[in-house]
Amino acid sequence: MFGSLTALPADPILGLLAKYREDANPNKIDLGVGVYKNEAGHTAVLDCVKSAEKHRLDTEDSKVYIGPTGSALFNEEMAKLIFGHHKVLLENRARTVSAPGGTGALRVAAEFISSCKTGATIWVSNPTWANHSGVFQAAGLNVKTYPYYDYENKTLDFDGMLAALKTVKPDDTVLLHACCHNPSGMDLTNEQWQQVAEVAKDVGFLPLIDMAYQGFGEGLDQDAYGLRLMADSVKEMIVCSSCSKNFGLYRERIGACTIIAENAASADIANSVLLSVIRCIYSMPPAHGAAVVETILHSDELRTQWHQELKTMRDRINGNRQLLVDKLVENGVSRDFSFIPRQKGMFSFLGITPEQVQQLQSEYSIYMVGSSRISIAGIAKSNVDYLAKSIAKVL
Ligand code: LMR
Repeated sequence: MFGSLTALPADPILGLLAKYREDANPNKIDLGVGVYKNEAGHTAVLDCVKSAEKHRLDTEDSKVYIGPTGSALFNEEMAKLIFGHHKVLLENRARTVSAPGGTGALRVAAEFISSCKTGATIWVSNPTWANHSGVFQAAGLNVKTYPYYDYENKTLDFDGMLAALKTVKPDDTVLLHACCHNPSGMDLTNEQWQQVAEVAKDVGFLPLIDMAYQGFGEGLDQDAYGLRLMADSVKEMIVCSSCSKNFGLYRERIGACTIIAENAASADIANSVLLSVIRCIYSMPPAHGAAVVETILHSDELRTQWHQELKTMRDRINGNRQLLVDKLVENGVSRDFSFIPRQKGMFSFLGITPEQVQQLQSEYSIYMVGSSRISIAGIAKSNVDYLAKSIAKVL
């Protein structure tokens, strides 16, 4: 049976990581996969995570099954982190389940949407995270795109986006990035969120919000502004969130999927469908990451420490954005890269050609996604001169 298979190409993001690891050049730079790195190029375990893990080691007294929806305390703490004091929580309209990472949450959401309507259409931004389409198609959804990034002017094509969203059908889903748009770094302003929320309400489509980088843009509450505004306007929506980046728990695979329904009774029905979806994919989520996150969020001391560590990561990334632009100027690059500090989160497009991306990889051992998406966290004071000089040469 296996003879009918043909080998598939490597994943555009994860494949880069393997190539980077094999490269023997001591000057190599990894701007590929979206993981936070410190100045030394290391993705360290957060101190608050270490403390929570010690606490867990001392207090955990059973490894018994936890159930498809995961830990109730984690789900409750995540709902508060996402929504703050929003009315959807006060009205008991939200149901949060743990999931194996943000990707797991997206797959659960996609299967849930499929349970609502077989072959439903989901609209994603052009461009979007390289894995979105695959995850949605695997659940039987039909993927369409709406305009988003204006490559020419390095800004948002908001008119194009809004015009496309007005043509969406009421039983379609629209995927929106809560903050730190992956791959463009181009976020909606608060006013633009307001307009998108009004269109969502008028048209009646289902907003599916992907929040993989809460706290990496401007702050925990600021980054959730758009989705909270959306929840003010619509009766139903879904939020998929990830703890990979903001808690640095990448390999623990912990995220959450939250369904907002029109009322508490509908939310209970939706929750029962979520439970059945989960049971048929992976039965139950892993427990360790959730235990770490709930311990941090439930302790005033650890939560405060986490806020500080998150701020350090955010400030370093934002500092790197300006640093890169300054170094490009210093190296005589006349092309305008001033859009980079205006963008948010882990990524921006350099806006160079695929040939130039390839040349940076083969001649200078600088790794980025073929679209010229760079992971800003991979820049450091120790490599930015080499990076800027290399970019100057290929330009
Ligand atoms: C990325 O976009 O680099 C991250 O979200 C990691 C991944 O799984 O692709």
